[in-house]
Amino acid sequence: MSLFGSRTKKINPAKRLEGTVQFPGDKSISHRYAMLAAIAEGPSEVHFFSSSADCQSTLNCLQKLGVKIERKANTVLIHGAGLEGLRQARGNLDAGNSGSTMRMLAGILAGQRFRSVLVGDASLSRRPMKRIVEPLSQMGARIRAADGGRPPLEIEGTTLKPIRHELRVPSAQVKSAILLAGLYAEGETEVVEPVTTRDHTEIALEQMGADIGRHQRTIAIRGRARLEGKKLYVPGDISSAAFFIVAGLLVPESNLVLQNVGLNPTRTAILDVLVSMGGRVKVINLETLNGELMGDLHVESSRLRGGDIPAEAVPTLIDELPVLAVLGTQTERGLSFRGAAELRVKESDRIAAVAANLRRMGAEVEEFPDGLRVAGGQKLRGAEIDSFDDHRIAMAFAVAGLVAQGTTAIRNSACVDISFPDFFEKLAKVAG
Ligand code: S3P
Repeated sequence: MSLFGSRTKKINPAKRLEGTVQFPGDKSISHRYAMLAAIAEGPSEVHFFSSSADCQSTLNCLQKLGVKIERKANTVLIHGAGLEGLRQARGNLDAGNSGSTMRMLAGILAGQRFRSVLVGDASLSRRPMKRIVEPLSQMGARIRAADGGRPPLEIEGTTLKPIRHELRVPSAQVKSAILLAGLYAEGETEVVEPVTTRDHTEIALEQMGADIGRHQRTIAIRGRARLEGKKLYVPGDISSAAFFIVAGLLVPESNLVLQNVGLNPTRTAILDVLVSMGGRVKVINLETLNGELMGDLHVESSRLRGGDIPAEAVPTLIDELPVLAVLGTQTERGLSFRGAAELRVKESDRIAAVAANLRRMGAEVEEFPDGLRVAGGQKLRGAEIDSFDDHRIAMAFAVAGLVAQGTTAIRNSACVDISFPDFFEKLAKVAG
């Protein structure tokens, strides 16, 4: 049985997409603002906080840790408890489906004076945690995962010491967990990345007054710095906008304006890839808010050449790969990517999920341990699609349904709530 209920959504082919769309606040940034505001001094007012279930999981955990939080629609008021102000939760902390909540919060919890247990849903309980257990243990944390390095995580908070850590897997969540733990260590903690991943934690730490330095792919943070509460604005989530960008490019005669989309350069590789394939996506009205770039995007339907996504771009568009694979089927030359083994340990095995669903729609797909290749110029047939309870799979195949022949039914579609609760309503509106 699905964890999210069995809501099936029917998607019919669209003639054109037209209109203006706004997106939920960026999920990655919302998690970080909530966590940092919770351990800052004084109140923080976070505007356009993500409406996602994942970010609600973060707020719920912080409340259980004694942080006072008031939420009115998309504005969240967080009364900072200070670096030492969190209290032991009664019972487990439930991260739900959210890897970011579990991994990043573990960094903060490692430095507390109390014990915490982080648990997750069935999908999160299968995801690897060794990648944070190892570096945090080197910092002196007493942290234990279940068999195979999976959740739940049991953390006995203690005094931490600074380390210099070279990340093996490029992961912004792991980098952030170490930097957050670094706030609790006496001295300077350093993280070196193999490739630059999303840097929202670094930017937010700077904005809130932490002592943080960056040089190429090394980030250093001085422990025990005092963070200050702040008024913050979250840009729209580019990873949610990605579904509308791809839909706008693929559906003929489309013309979409996507407003207030976060355009942090560590997140915009998807735009570079699409433009290099001939996609007509233009950035308009660029501005910076709280150190984060944002702007509007103008998307028009385009003839796309397709191509190979370079391996070095993969970590910076990892969440967009499912919808890019769908797009590949509608390009001239097809599309491929390798070096994306991480996709197999996301909310679902996204390589297998994309391949299975594309095949159900009659497409030709080649599956590799670390990637996919889809042929171009393929006609997709409406089919019954399994979301695998993974929000990004449900949304990627809703986009596929817009350009397929016949009706596509997305089974277990309610999982879109994980990142984009009104996705189907917004899609229906632009499809008229
Ligand atoms: C995220 C980082 C990425 C991404 C995830 C959110 C973040 O994961 O896939 O959706 O907010 O830091 P990894 O850190 O595991 O690469």
